[in-house]
Amino acid sequence: MRLIIEPDYLTLSRWAGDYVASKIKAANPTPEKPFVLGCPTGSSPLGLYKRLIELYKKGDISFENVVTFNMDEYVGLPEDHPESYHSFMWKNFFSHINIKKENVHILNGNAENLEEECANYEKAIAAAGGIDLFMGGVGQDGHIAFNEPGSSLTSVTRKKELTSDTIVANSRFFDYDLEKVPRVALTVGVGTVMAAREVLIVCNGHNKARALKHAVEEGISQMWTISALQLHPHAIIVCDETATDELKVGTYKYFKDIEKNNL
Ligand code: GLP
Repeated sequence: MRLIIEPDYLTLSRWAGDYVASKIKAANPTPEKPFVLGCPTGSSPLGLYKRLIELYKKGDISFENVVTFNMDEYVGLPEDHPESYHSFMWKNFFSHINIKKENVHILNGNAENLEEECANYEKAIAAAGGIDLFMGGVGQDGHIAFNEPGSSLTSVTRKKELTSDTIVANSRFFDYDLEKVPRVALTVGVGTVMAAREVLIVCNGHNKARALKHAVEEGISQMWTISALQLHPHAIIVCDETATDELKVGTYKYFKDIEKNNL
C-alpha cells in the first residue's frame, strides 16, 4: 500500500484528481474499451471531483469513454431527494463533465427486489470488464462504501444496516435529525472494491486519524474494513497532515521518505 501525505485538503485533492486523470489518459479509453471508474460520495471526495472538473474544463481530460459505478446508495430515499447519492453525484460531478448518462451506474435503493438489484450490479461491473480504479473515502469507524465493522472482507454488493455511529455522522446532511437518516443502504462489498485493478482512498481530517492508523499500521480486521486494502496489490491512500495524528512518528517518516519524489 502507498500512503501519500499531503499538507492539507486542497493539496491532497489536487494530488488525487491529477492521479485519476493521469490514469484515464494513460488508458486512452475508447467506446469498445472504456475506462471503468468506481465513485464514492461523502465530503472527502468533493475536492477530488472539483479538481477533475477543473481538468475537464481546461481540456486536459475527457470522460466520453469513462463508465462509472458508484459505491452505494440509501434504501428508500427518493432518487431526487437532495441527499440521495444520485443527486450528490449529478450535482457535484456528473453534470459538470462530458460523461454519458448511459455510462453512469448507481444502485437503485428503491428497486422492488433489492437482492436482484445488487446481483445485477455485480453482473454489470463484470460485463464492463471490471473496475479499473475504485476511488473511495473512509468512515470514522474505518468503513469503505457502507461496509460497516463486521462486514465480510470478501463481501459483494448487498443490503446493509447502517450503524448508529454512521447514522449520527451522516445526520449532518439531514438537518441533524437522526429520524431522517435512512437506516439501510445498498453497497458494493469489500470484495467488490478489492477486485478493482486499483484503489485510491482519500482520507482527511483529525476525525479520520484512527481509521488511518488501522488502515496502515494495524492488522487486517473485519472491524476496520479499510484494512483489507493491505492485501490489495495496487492500493493508495492519500491523506492530509491532520489525518496522520494517530500514526507512529516512524510510520509517518517512512512514508514521507519513500514518497518524497512523487509529487
Ligand atoms: C458514508 C459513505 C462512505 C464515505 C463515508 C465518509 O458512509 N457511504 O462512502 O466514505 O460516508 O464520509 P465523509 O467523506 O463525508 O467523511
